Amino acid sequence: MIPSVITRVTTRHFSRNTIAFDTARKLISSSASTQLTSKGNGLDLTPESVERVRTRLSLRDLKHQDVKQGSVLRLPFGDRAFDVVFSHGVLHHVPEIEAAQREIHRVLKPCGELIVMLYAKWSLNYLVSIALVRRLGLGILYLTHQNPGGIIGQHLANARAVGLRRYLRLGNFIHKNTDGPLNPYSKVYGLKAVRRDFSDFRVTRSYKRFMHGPPLPVSRLPLDGLLGWHLWVHMKPV
Ligand SMILES: C[S@@+](CC[C@H](N)C(=O)[O-])C[C@H]1O[C@@H](n2cnc3c(N)ncnc32)[C@H](O)[C@@H]1O
Repeated sequence: MIPSVITRVTTRHFSRNTIAFDTARKLISSSASTQLTSKGNGLDLTPESVERVRTRLSLRDLKHQDVKQGSVLRLPFGDRAFDVVFSHGVLHHVPEIEAAQREIHRVLKPCGELIVMLYAKWSLNYLVSIALVRRLGLGILYLTHQNPGGIIGQHLANARAVGLRRYLRLGNFIHKNTDGPLNPYSKVYGLKAVRRDFSDFRVTRSYKRFMHGPPLPVSRLPLDGLLGWHLWVHMKPV
């Protein structure tokens, strides 16, 4: 799944100057990652993620320029430095997305390309698993005073802290149901929201991948192009 996506974007894109936001785990572990060249740079907000990527790059002896710690809101790079900016699962966690895309626009060459993976609103995971199944399940556990541990226990603790109704509001619940119950912020995207949030870019191509919808066993359903969780969007600066 992911390797095929990476193959699509790799051969053409990673032979040029590239910045990748938190160079993706799947990218680093994919055979296509050998296409990363000495001109590639990576960046993530947290020292842990930066260290993880550095370790993976070194274990696989992948040539690259640098992996820096920093924020997409203040990129430590000059204007028009890159041919490609590639972001895997990062920008939907940035509330100040307008400012982030402006920074990306600044470091991209005018003929460059932005390739992003964002969580998809029109996905089975969001529309069925998160909006219906998980909310219903959590409501039942809460109202029947269950006390499991682990992730569900953390959700119940979150709900107790702010009240069940408030916790289950979809605008709040989404933050806690993409990357764990302690995740601070997540947004799901359709193309309309992409066009609104990435106003310094125009969309050239998009597709969905990755059938995912825990706790539903959907990974083998051949519906990823329609209802996949990963919305890939290619954009050009305007
Ligand atoms: C869901 S993880 C994705 C990790 C990896 N790219 C992957 O696909 O496996 C989200 C990452 O976004 C990073 N992040 C969040 N806000 C950021 C910001 N303002 N600038 C740079 N990275 C950020 C987090 O530190 C975290 O590593």
